[in-house]
Amino acid sequence: MTDLGVKGEKAPGGPAPTLRASGLRKSFGGVEVLHGIDVRLGSGEIHALVGENGAGKSTLINLLSGRLRPDAGHVEMNGEQIEFRNPLAARRAGISVIAQELEVVPTLTVVENVFLGAEPTTFGIVRWREARRRAVNTLRELGLDANPDRAVGAMGVADQQLVEIAKAVVGQFGVLIMDEPTSALNLEEVERLFRVVRRLKADGVAVLYVSHRLWEVFDLADRVTVVRDGNLIFTKEIAETDIGAVIRAMLGSKSTLVTDVAQAGREITREVAAARQGAHRDGDSAQPEVRRSPPGRVPKSGGHQGPVTGTPGENKRPPAVELEGVHSGHLLSDINITVDDGEVIGLAGVLGSGRTELCEAMCGLRKVDAGTIRLRGVPTKIREPKEALAHGVFALSEDRKSEGIFGHLDVRENVVLNFDGASGRRMPVGARSNAVRAWAGQAATIIRKAGLTRIRAGAERRAFDSSRASLGIRCSRPDERITALSGGNQQKAMFARAALTRPAVLVLSEPTRGVDVGAKEEIYSAIDGFAGEGVAIIVSSAEISELMRLAARIYVIRNGRIVARVAREEASEEQILRYMAG
Ligand SMILES: Nc1ncnc2c1ncn2[C@@H]1O[C@H](COP(=O)(O)OP(=O)(O)OP(=O)(O)O)[C@@H](O)[C@H]1O
Ligand SMILES: [Mg+2]
Repeated sequence: MTDLGVKGEKAPGGPAPTLRASGLRKSFGGVEVLHGIDVRLGSGEIHALVGENGAGKSTLINLLSGRLRPDAGHVEMNGEQIEFRNPLAARRAGISVIAQELEVVPTLTVVENVFLGAEPTTFGIVRWREARRRAVNTLRELGLDANPDRAVGAMGVADQQLVEIAKAVVGQFGVLIMDEPTSALNLEEVERLFRVVRRLKADGVAVLYVSHRLWEVFDLADRVTVVRDGNLIFTKEIAETDIGAVIRAMLGSKSTLVTDVAQAGREITREVAAARQGAHRDGDSAQPEVRRSPPGRVPKSGGHQGPVTGTPGENKRPPAVELEGVHSGHLLSDINITVDDGEVIGLAGVLGSGRTELCEAMCGLRKVDAGTIRLRGVPTKIREPKEALAHGVFALSEDRKSEGIFGHLDVRENVVLNFDGASGRRMPVGARSNAVRAWAGQAATIIRKAGLTRIRAGAERRAFDSSRASLGIRCSRPDERITALSGGNQQKAMFARAALTRPAVLVLSEPTRGVDVGAKEEIYSAIDGFAGEGVAIIVSSAEISELMRLAARIYVIRNGRIVARVAREEASEEQILRYMAG
């Protein structure tokens, strides 16, 4: 047992905790999704669980942690069969879980969330002062200096994820189960989490770790279990397998679709190296300077070098998007960014850097106090997401659960939500003025509302079917509730929605969050495809390799300012990490 964040509490004795699952089966609505899984978690072991989106990883975790009951099979802890009525019972028994979808309660404070239902008490009275101190210590160790009395709902997704992690590691427990804990974290934050996890391992905690970032698995885990379509493919010592073998096991016959497994392996190896360099960077006092380098992939309409201040140059058309001197509260200062038609630019930055806020400003979720956003040369006020849409700006939110999916709607409804089925045309990218663009957006809405229902239904069905096929969205029926989909498949659905909007400008936050290796490539090529059609694209990601894969140039944001602008050809992950850290 371990207790992170406090000293002097006695750990109950007894044998080292071991969790063993045998023959676990689970069906939903008559469809079996787990076909008898055996898995064993040893004390002091970090055991990775990998598999495609929808393979059954979260379902397995839900069975181990009392969120779901198995149809067959059983779970033993320390040799005794256990059955949990609910997650809290599992937590009390020493199984701590970080769920895939954030489970923090937005209206509660940081300290209330960290201890939810497990507050330290004396004779039933909660010792809040101690709780506060432990919450602050644990979060600090994870790299977050948080006010314990702040409402969690007011924090960004990555911060919320850290609160979720703190909640899992603050108490006493023998088993720690993590379902994609790092999907909103960047390399440095991941390294910090790893340090905590390694210490827990040294204390004898058994760790089950789910991640789609295979480099994390090979960096952290002792053993790896691969599941595919609800079947266990293998459990192996990390030292006895390699990334190629794991990818092939995950994808089975589909592994030929990942065109170059070796290339994927190389990228992952590079990323491990970058993470290590980032983690071991010390005493680096050199202040990175803002670099002015030429853009990488020059768009058809001609390239811009940085912020444009009204000089038309050789361009006939003004750029799709220009941000000039944009300020927002104390979170964004003097942001200058230009994106041309068909260009992809990347945003890098650590937690709280302003990366998220910049995306929010682009899509009407955050007020711009000073400076100008120009769309195709026309200064534009985007006060709410609806206005952004009317101007052809579509944003994919990083917060899938609260801002992305509509839980009460089915998969198809979620995907075709903003689809202009009546015309099937792209949002007004070529329109000459804002007024025209806004009008065209409204007209589309009116057409949508006014009927043409039959035509629309058919178009929507076709649109949905094609994006389901091209992105490989795994759902049993189009009218299945979106919440029944696996995390990665929900993400694909959100991406499909963005795609069907046919936008002029796409703002993508963490576009491949929780998506498996195969589908990641699909999303990358879809993004390339949009760029090819002339869409201006802003990608914000915690994964630097993702930015390097997609973007012609990468803007690094720190403390709300752009501190570097690096062309892809000249960028290295290590250097970008340095700019991010400052
Ligand atoms: N509540 C539910 N109702 C119906 N089907 C479900 C439910 N929960 C999961 N499923 C189905 O079970 C299968 C396995 O889903 P699961 O969430 O375990 O996948 P996963 O391996 O965690 O995938 P990801 O990497 O995308 O998170 C999927 O086909 C999913 O649609
Ligand atoms: Mg999952």
